[in-house]
Amino acid sequence: MTTHLSFLLLGLILSAGLSSLWDSDMKAAAKPQIKKQAFGKTADQKTVDIYTLTNANGVEARIMTYGGAVVSLKVPDRNGKLGDVVLGYDRLDGYLKNNPYFGSIIGRYGNRIARGRFSLNGREYKLAQNNGENHLHGGIKGFDKVIWKAGEVNSKDGVGLKLTYISKDGEEGYPGNLSVTVTYTLTNNNELMIDYSATTDKETIVNLTHHSYFNLAGEGSILNHELMINADRFTPVDQGLIPTGELRSVKRTPMDFTQATTIGARIDQPDEQLIAGRGYDHNWVLNRSDNGLTLAARVYEPVTGRVMEVYTTEPGLQFYSGNFLDGSITGKGGQVYHRRYGFCLETQHFPDSPNKPNFPSTVLKPGEKYSTRTIYKFTTK
Ligand code: GLA
Repeated sequence: MTTHLSFLLLGLILSAGLSSLWDSDMKAAAKPQIKKQAFGKTADQKTVDIYTLTNANGVEARIMTYGGAVVSLKVPDRNGKLGDVVLGYDRLDGYLKNNPYFGSIIGRYGNRIARGRFSLNGREYKLAQNNGENHLHGGIKGFDKVIWKAGEVNSKDGVGLKLTYISKDGEEGYPGNLSVTVTYTLTNNNELMIDYSATTDKETIVNLTHHSYFNLAGEGSILNHELMINADRFTPVDQGLIPTGELRSVKRTPMDFTQATTIGARIDQPDEQLIAGRGYDHNWVLNRSDNGLTLAARVYEPVTGRVMEVYTTEPGLQFYSGNFLDGSITGKGGQVYHRRYGFCLETQHFPDSPNKPNFPSTVLKPGEKYSTRTIYKFTTK
């Protein structure tokens, strides 16, 4: 009898112990964390690391030090199943060989500067003309092709990765030593928050952005995604995709996304702007009452139920519908990226601002601090 009792007791104690062990294990799995691994080496033998950030819900972002690029981003669908919603490569190799800015940090100047020229204080600066006669995304070796220094951060908002880079005076033709910090934070609200800051020792121009190609279904065409852009106006472009300087109403044009509309609904209309962009590749002028964080766009993918909202402190949003993808890239998991299989929502100052006095200024002076924030938030419906 006593033996039986003591066995029973032992059993009870053991199972209680095991279940509390199991509990703490579950908690450990749900604890936000960040893990560093080697991802490969560049042609000049520089080491590239990749960091895996996981939040309390199991949402996972992998970010590498080459280009500060988001390599994968796994978020739940409406059944809780995680899926990767950004395009890219499985291995570093692909990024080094042929990279249309997959997930990259873009700088020193995101988007185009006409003829690669601008003037500051009466002096003309010449930049690389790497997009026809225009300058695009920081030049030949922009911030998407440099190795960033990385440090892990744990803040009240979540786990983060702080990336820093010093762009030397004259690099890619830009004046001033620019000290740049980009911090990615994966919050427990399923947000990827990006904080950009920069200081300079000589007057210069700065316009930093993020170039993930999203596909909320995880694969296939993006034309059935529904998009809302919080903008009544956009900046029409010429044949070289340089803004004309006009801020034009979106009303009664295929650029009107004030009400959620599928991306594919009007994309092939014989519209002069869509023809110039080979689809959507334009900057929208965000509606805002102050310069705080504002909802810029919302995207809904009906099959998976995934919703992505973009919030930003920036005045503009480039919506690019992946028009230049042409099936020549085989990306993650052997997926072939055909035309319009991914879209970008690049928060920014307007393209060619340095040559457009009526656009918000992109000039940064010594003693000032460039500081912007963009949040990509994931939910389902
Ligand atoms: C931006 C540009 C596009 C294109 C893509 C990358 O969105 O506006 O024209 O260059 O980047 O291909």
